[in-house]
Amino acid sequence: MGQSIRNELIRVLIASDATFLSGEEISRKVGVSRAAIWKHIEELRQEGYEIEARPRHGYRLVYRPDRVAPEEIYPHLQTVAFGREIRYLVQTDSTQIVAHQWAREGAPEGAIVIAEEQHQGRGRMGRVWHSPPQTGIWMSVILRPPIPLSHAPHLTLLASVAVRRALAKLTELPVKIKWPNDLLINGKKVCGILTELRGEQDQIHYVIVGMGINVNAQVADWPDWLKEVGTSLRHELGRPIHRASLLAEILAELEQSYQGYLERGFAPIREEWQQMAGILGEQITARTSQGSYTGIAEQLNEHGALLLRTEQGVVPVYSAEIEWQ
Ligand code: BTN
Repeated sequence: MGQSIRNELIRVLIASDATFLSGEEISRKVGVSRAAIWKHIEELRQEGYEIEARPRHGYRLVYRPDRVAPEEIYPHLQTVAFGREIRYLVQTDSTQIVAHQWAREGAPEGAIVIAEEQHQGRGRMGRVWHSPPQTGIWMSVILRPPIPLSHAPHLTLLASVAVRRALAKLTELPVKIKWPNDLLINGKKVCGILTELRGEQDQIHYVIVGMGINVNAQVADWPDWLKEVGTSLRHELGRPIHRASLLAEILAELEQSYQGYLERGFAPIREEWQQMAGILGEQITARTSQGSYTGIAEQLNEHGALLLRTEQGVVPVYSAEIEWQ
C-alpha cells in the first residue's frame, strides 16, 4: 500500500510539471490524508528528491534523483505487460542471475530485473560488462515466447531493433546495429545485448534478454580498454539523459516489436534490422568457434544467421565476433 501511495504521489508531482500543488489537491489526487502525504514527502526528500514547500502555494517538485526505481519508471510506462513487474536492486552481481532465478520461480512474461550497479555484469563470450552505479541501464527482461528453440536468435535481433528505435526517438543520434547484438555510435559500442535461455527438446521454458546501455557514463572515468571501444549517450550528446524515461521508451518499443513478431513473424524485424545494420555490403571477418571467415556480409537469413559471401561460397554465421574496417 505504502509503495502505491508513493508511486502515485511521484506521478502527481511529475504531472504538475514543476508548478505548485496545494496539499489538499495532492491529497485528493492520491486519495490519502494530508498527514500521509506529508510523511511520504519527507521520505522522498531523504532519498534525494527536492520538493519545495511554500505557504499558501503548496508543493512543487524541483529535482528528481536519477534512479531507475519502479516509482521513477511507472509514470513513464505505456506498456501492457513489459515492465509492469519490476525487481529493482541498488546493487547486484548480475541482473541475469536474478532474472534466471525469478523466471524459474514463475515470473510473468515482461517482468524485468533492473540494477543501479552490477559487480559481475556478464557480457557475451564470457566477457565482463562494466556496470558502474547510476550510469547506465542494466536490465534483464523475462520472456516466455511460444516459438521453437531454433528461433531464439530472432529475439536478440528483435531487441536490438527495439532499443535502436527508442534511442533514435529520444536522441536523434546516428545509432547503427552491428550483428548480432551491438549498437554503435560513430563506430563505438553504446549497447550490448545478451540473450540466455532455458529449454529442452525444441521447447523454450523462458528467455532472458539482458541489455546493457551506457547512458550517463563520463567516458573519461572509464578504464583505457573501454574508452577505445565504447561510448555513452551522454558523451555523444553532450548532456545527460533521464534513464527511467529512456527505459520506459525501450520497454514500449520492445513490447511492440515482440507482439508484432508473435503475430507476423520474423520478416518485418529482419527488414528493419537490415536497413539499420552497419555491415551489409561490407567486407568483414567473422571469428567463430569453428574458425574465421572473411567475406562480404550479404544479408540475414530467415533464422537470423548472417550470410557471408566468401571465396568458398556463402557461409551462414550463427555466432561470432565480427571485425571490419
Ligand atoms: C555484450 O557483451 O555485448 C552483452 C552485454 C550485456 C550486458 C547486460 S547488463 C544487464 C544484463 N546483466 C548482465 O550481467 N549482463 C546483461
